[in-house]
Amino acid sequence: MSHIAPHGGTLIQLFDPEYDDSNISKEIELDSFALSDLELIGIGGFSPLTGFLGKEDYESVVRHMRLADGTVWSIPITLPVTAEKAQELVVGEQVKLVFNGEGYGVIKISELFEPNKIEEALHVYRTDDKAHPGVSKLFERPHVYVAGEIILTRRVKRGRFQSYHRDPKETRGKFTELGWKKIVGFQTRNPVHRAHEYIQKAALEIVDGLFLNPLVGDTKSDDIPADVRMESYEVLLQHYYPKDRVFLSVFPAAMRYAGPREAIFHAIVRQNYGCTHFIVGRDHAGVGDYYGTYDAQLIFNEIPEDGLQITPLFFEHSFYCQACGNMASTKTCPHDKEHHVILSGTKVRKMLANGELPPAEFSRKEVVEVLIKGMSVQAESIQS
Ligand code: ADX
Repeated sequence: MSHIAPHGGTLIQLFDPEYDDSNISKEIELDSFALSDLELIGIGGFSPLTGFLGKEDYESVVRHMRLADGTVWSIPITLPVTAEKAQELVVGEQVKLVFNGEGYGVIKISELFEPNKIEEALHVYRTDDKAHPGVSKLFERPHVYVAGEIILTRRVKRGRFQSYHRDPKETRGKFTELGWKKIVGFQTRNPVHRAHEYIQKAALEIVDGLFLNPLVGDTKSDDIPADVRMESYEVLLQHYYPKDRVFLSVFPAAMRYAGPREAIFHAIVRQNYGCTHFIVGRDHAGVGDYYGTYDAQLIFNEIPEDGLQITPLFFEHSFYCQACGNMASTKTCPHDKEHHVILSGTKVRKMLANGELPPAEFSRKEVVEVLIKGMSVQAESIQS
């Protein structure tokens, strides 16, 4: 087993496919966001959480980045329902958690409360601007939060990439099997471009293995879809990484775009998966210009020494420098910006959509080919 303890000390295990829910008649319909949260609680990815947050924990997380008992926790994990639905629900009873007509779990309701969403937005997202995708999602979801411990009764089916789903218990076992003691986790919602590859490999120089853990839950509509990304990771690993140093497994969470707060959250969850280190680069989990380039690194200063066991590894903004003739960052390159190959995500998406190849200094050609093919298949399926 991995040498690092799960966050809070115990790996929560709440998956019970045999759980008898046949005499529970009430149901709460989940959105895909809540479904992924339910699953992550059940498999221990969100340890030490055992359910959706109650008011005291919620307010403490929003205001102080701590659960009520002082454990560091940066993103409120909540189950929103409409006011009409809330009228039906009674504290103390068990309710089925349903998605598309199928039961995925059960919650024992401990509390129902109305959140202050403006406060939640301002603390968690540092803005209440509804143009922010995380904030817009927050306000779009219903306005009463249901709290309580859960049981996960069914696993979410993932189609073609099912084999890349590994629970924290399995990844911990896998790391031991591989003989890795130091494991660096890498979060991404994008294809892995040269800058990502550079910081991953820089980290790999000082640890035993890389846990490439792309997020595949809900993302905003203009992010590259998870199935296209998965194929791009496969070709990249095949051509450019030593097989015995990388373990690819997906992170089934929804993306919040909460920048600094989400960086802490991402680190905690990777600790639960068994990582000892976690990469935080430039504008981690950011969107638009809501966060400063290194805010997601600076927020770790607010966590006391013993608040997290996983060690963050911070990386400067990286790029290919034509004058150096290699990947570099402002820490290692003395040349002016004009020598640096830097492309925004938006620019790259536009190029790919037009079938244009981003330069080899920005992205590996095998990756680009998969992306162009994937984007055109997607465009065809939208048109047809
Ligand atoms: S994220 O929303 O999942 O953080 P992305 O997939 O782009 O977005 O980033 C994955 C990780 O790589 C994050 O830690 C991010 O900070 C880092 N990163 C992305 N691009 C760069 C870059 N050019 N230089 C340094 N770090 C980067």
